[in-house]
Amino acid sequence: MRLLVTGGAGFIGSNFILYWFKNHPEDQVVNFDALTYAGNLENLISIEKNPNYRFVKGDIANVNEVNSAMEGVDAVVHFAAETHVDRSISGPAPFVMSNVLGTQVLLDSARKNNIKRFHHVSTDEVFGQLELDSDEKFNESTCYDPRSPYSASKASSDHLVRAYFHTYNFPVTITNCSNNFGPYQFPEKIIPLAITNVLEEKKIPIYGDGLYVRDWLYVEDHCRGIDLVLSRGKIGETYCLGGMTEDINNLEVAKKIAGLLGKDETVIEFVKDRPGHDRRYAVDFSKAKNELGWEPRHTFEEWLKTTVEWYKTNEAWWKKVKSGEYKKYYEEQYKK
Ligand code: NAD
Ligand code: DAU
Repeated sequence: MRLLVTGGAGFIGSNFILYWFKNHPEDQVVNFDALTYAGNLENLISIEKNPNYRFVKGDIANVNEVNSAMEGVDAVVHFAAETHVDRSISGPAPFVMSNVLGTQVLLDSARKNNIKRFHHVSTDEVFGQLELDSDEKFNESTCYDPRSPYSASKASSDHLVRAYFHTYNFPVTITNCSNNFGPYQFPEKIIPLAITNVLEEKKIPIYGDGLYVRDWLYVEDHCRGIDLVLSRGKIGETYCLGGMTEDINNLEVAKKIAGLLGKDETVIEFVKDRPGHDRRYAVDFSKAKNELGWEPRHTFEEWLKTTVEWYKTNEAWWKKVKSGEYKKYYEEQYKK
């Protein structure tokens, strides 16, 4: 099988390609990525010489670039997107270009090329927010209620993918997953930001009261979930993938990270809140469990320990990422 992976130089996309070659070494993978600030080919150094791997630099919103990458492809796994909520608040336009227009251009090209499967990677953020201290969880029937430019753009892309299924009978599947964490995550996201800040003797910036809850999914569990959807998922269906069995708020996550690095909570600093900050996410993954036999392999605590260790031993990777352009972003985002 030949897979076209969009956004394969990003956090989840690169973990997915590494996962794929480990589990399906006979397959061919074309990594199509525009190499925005979030794309980093260093994540893939270990497989870059694999004859079954090819990198193509291109923009998913560019029809010609997409059409030429699509030749000979059997399945598309679509990760490419602008992904950081705070960046979508300061500048929504690229989110509409890549996440909405880009997805439509890909769908069109995939349909014209008779691609056998188009798998769209989406987020639980399309469902909006849940109340704190409620037992409610998002599932495949939850109504869409996106509240940030990022989640609104992802919701639009999900609607387009479903429209291609209903209108053209195009073979799609969708996963809506929760917050991923693990190796190679860009340190603008809270877990790698917190770990690397502590390693640099800096504070962990916590928005607002810190009592916001996310559902944490280890990236390798996520990749395995997509693999199972590709092999066992039903065409036209959506699967929610999540990690947590109980709520843990951001303050508790920060304390756990500080503890794993031998620090106490004085490394935590409260900073101004994110506008429109969603209070709580929680994902009910029972459909994926019942129909695909998928569930996370370890607890949040175990995966967090693994993740902290990875950042401790891969300082050269994140130090490079945290220099240059990132410095300007950090100063602007966290100015008093
Ligand atoms: P990321 O920001 O780390 O990487 C995104 C990748 O997409 C980068 O390599 C970037 O260069 C590429 N890209 C961006 N715009 C592009 C364009 N126009 N054309 C081609 N390539 C482009 O993102 P991630 O965290 O790995 O997320 C991957 C996907 O998973 C996204 O669709 C995101 O919405 C979804 N998702 C992420 C999370 C999470 O917690 N990270 C959770 C749920 C869903
Ligand atoms: O839920 C899935 C989503 O998770 C994905 O679709 C997004 O692409 C991904 O970026 C992520 O979105 P979040 O906004 O939840 O992730 P982030 O790491 O930015 O923030 C996680 C929580 O931590 C959130 O409540 C905001 C808070 N936070 C974040 C940052 C960057 C802080 O308190 N301080 C910070 O400095």
